[in-house]
Amino acid sequence: GDVFTYDPGFTSTAACDSAITYIDGDKGELLYRGYPIEQLAEKSHFLEVCYLLLYGELPNAEQMVDFESRVTNHTMVHEQMHYFFRGFRRDSHPMATMVGVVGAMSAFYHDSTDITDPWQREVAAIRMIAKLPTIAAMAFKYSMGQPFVYPKNSLDYASNFLHMCFAVPCEDYVVNPVLSKAMDRIMMLHADHEQNASTSTVRLAGSSGANPFACVAAGIACLWGPAHGGANQACLEMLREIGTVDRIPEYINRAKDKNDPFRLMGFGHRVYKNFDPRAKVMKESADEVLELLGIHNNETLKVAKELERIALEDEYFVEKKLYPNVDFYSGIILEAMGFPTSMFTPIFAVSRTVGWISQWKEMIADPTQKIGRPRQLYIGQTRRDYAEVEER
Ligand code: CMC
Repeated sequence: GDVFTYDPGFTSTAACDSAITYIDGDKGELLYRGYPIEQLAEKSHFLEVCYLLLYGELPNAEQMVDFESRVTNHTMVHEQMHYFFRGFRRDSHPMATMVGVVGAMSAFYHDSTDITDPWQREVAAIRMIAKLPTIAAMAFKYSMGQPFVYPKNSLDYASNFLHMCFAVPCEDYVVNPVLSKAMDRIMMLHADHEQNASTSTVRLAGSSGANPFACVAAGIACLWGPAHGGANQACLEMLREIGTVDRIPEYINRAKDKNDPFRLMGFGHRVYKNFDPRAKVMKESADEVLELLGIHNNETLKVAKELERIALEDEYFVEKKLYPNVDFYSGIILEAMGFPTSMFTPIFAVSRTVGWISQWKEMIADPTQKIGRPRQLYIGQTRRDYAEVEER
């Protein structure tokens, strides 16, 4: 029969051409459409990066205004979706709610589901970029039993998200610009990361011609896992579980123990083997936010700092090239902002949506792409005859 290459985890298989994101894992380099992430983090902002990822070039002033108005035009969700939310238990994980609600968008927006029509693909893309923050904030509000807050289009993308999460009808809420900048950075640094597990999931789902909202829902489901986007939540929960600095060695030993499945969450990466360039930028933001909020002696933070120090020096971690990744620092920032850990991965999903949809659009427009259909090496029984039940 046919001979296939065995490549579990696709560590050495390229399944597509892509012109969106470039990663050099050895150099610790990340480029969006050629632009280094460090320059974008310093000079750009999330919506501009969305434009860049979607269309390939930085927008001029006029294009930016137009793009922004197209996005803000779609920030509200269909009012009937409020009922859909109410079907969930209050204690549902917001990622579970998001998988459901984003999937349900395929039942609400029929004018953006004909994937053979470039205009409809474009509308689907804008809708998702515009609505994901609204949906994530609604999932958050719902989990707390608070009223939904409608989007405020006069605010920038990150500030609007913070507003929808933290504003309450009985008080004025003014978004702190330092927090809004940090949120914008979290979004920008998570916006795309070439063919990671959730993006590959969106591409695979989309390769059959499936509905784009359903494809993004599949991406959200994949992102949820602790080895991927769920690491930010798992990392902070681990820091809390460790609790005090004196207990760190116990956990370091567990991480090294071959017979213990425990891993240090927020450390290591499939592609980055020297450092995670996103983590470098994220660490700066973490310091800024902690300074602003005057958080210096928080026990979780002390554990984080000490763990970071040990892991960077310890032979095992150095040798295996396990550095703190982006989620190590984003978790610290989100905790300081007042988000519960269950909201960490939803915020990752909001940020990655533009990456998913840019990759999906690239795939649909690529004539060389076909339905994704991996093969296998069969290791089961050879052919045998059915046995009647009394003969088994
Ligand atoms: N703690 C302890 N040991 C580790 C860790 C860790 N976090 N990560 C990898 N190792 C060890 C692993 O046991 C293995 O050892 P050995 O060679 O002796 O068997 C070696 O390092 C290589 O690990 P691997 O599992 O083959 O590497 P991978 O490329 O398949 O996994 C990873 C990458 C990110 C899934 C993994 O490092 C991990 O589980 N990290 C913790 C979860 C995490 O922080 N994930 C977020 C990644 S960044 C954001 C995102 O992509 O969503």
